[in-house]
Amino acid sequence: MKKMKFGSSDVDVAAVILGCMRINNAENPVKVIETAYESGIDFFDHADIYGGGDCESIFGKALKETSIKREDLFIQTKCGIVPGKMFDFSKEHIVASVEGSLQRLGMDYVDALLLHRPDALMEPEEVAAAFDELAQAGKVKHFGVSNQSPQQIALLKKAVKQPLVANQLQFGLKHTEMIDQGIHVNMSDQGSFDHDGGIYEYSRLHDMTIQAWSPYQYGFFEGVFIGNEKFPELNQKLNEMAEKYQTTPTGMAAAWILRVPNMQVIAGTMNLGRITEIAQAAEIRLSKEDWYALYMAAGNILP
Ligand SMILES: NC(=O)c1ccc[n+]([C@@H]2O[C@H](COP(=O)([O-])OP(=O)(O)OC[C@H]3O[C@@H](n4cnc5c(N)ncnc54)[C@H](OP(=O)(O)O)[C@@H]3O)[C@@H](O)[C@H]2O)c1
Repeated sequence: MKKMKFGSSDVDVAAVILGCMRINNAENPVKVIETAYESGIDFFDHADIYGGGDCESIFGKALKETSIKREDLFIQTKCGIVPGKMFDFSKEHIVASVEGSLQRLGMDYVDALLLHRPDALMEPEEVAAAFDELAQAGKVKHFGVSNQSPQQIALLKKAVKQPLVANQLQFGLKHTEMIDQGIHVNMSDQGSFDHDGGIYEYSRLHDMTIQAWSPYQYGFFEGVFIGNEKFPELNQKLNEMAEKYQTTPTGMAAAWILRVPNMQVIAGTMNLGRITEIAQAAEIRLSKEDWYALYMAAGNILP
């Protein structure tokens, strides 16, 4: 498994993360964890809200049925969303959420905690107090964010002392907005639109790892683009490249993400064969020409 530094920390982590948002739908969660681990994926992403808490409980219980040691895994969770009600970065909510996650996971600590979605009413000092308490108690090793812009991160950094090592953002062949703007600087076409305040370049400048969520989806959870007749050109190119690099279209789409500096991919599949394909694809390094060919086959243009 390809390894990379986790943000500015000195910890090496797997390039492929298994996202556990759908583990409550897995036929055999024990086999999912074992297959991922045997394929080199020892990094698992959670959130307090996945399955209303069930995903963390299912994972925690399933892990105990394997022979894998907790300390050999990198466990990440997220907090800050109160579904349908609000985003809450108050100290009280962050600390209580982590306590709940640890209880459900059956663990004493998580390796990383990310703030899930920006809370418009966030006070950086409250987040800092929560992070200090969790770090001092040894309950959280690393901190980061998700779906945050450079300015929001800068605002947090006014008070937060711990390095913010990761930002989880949607990215994939049908979600290229984060890099389009850099490719279309000084143009007036659609690609030049700045959605995220230059978060891709900011993350590289500040040594924050980007974790690409929902890498196979198009639209807002409209479906998967692999094998989808809505995207004939993309699928034709994925098939061609899969043959060239001796992988599958699923593997190729992950390798395309991992060719971007600074990125991990969070695969959400619970299919054992796909987990293995994606893990193996982390070893592939696409040529620049092939990377751009896939970028264009996905419907993007070069100015
Ligand atoms: N930070 C955030 O705001 C945020 C938001 C959403 C998700 N996430 C994280 O990202 C992770 C991944 O999200 P996701 O599950 O939406 O990502 P995904 O990997 O894009 O999608 C996985 C889903 O697509 C299906 N699928 C069908 N064909 C596939 C193929 N050829 N290759 C791969 N998948 C295929 C899978 O079904 P099978 O299981 O049958 O393969 C599974 O239901 C989550 O688990 C979570 O950890 C974070």
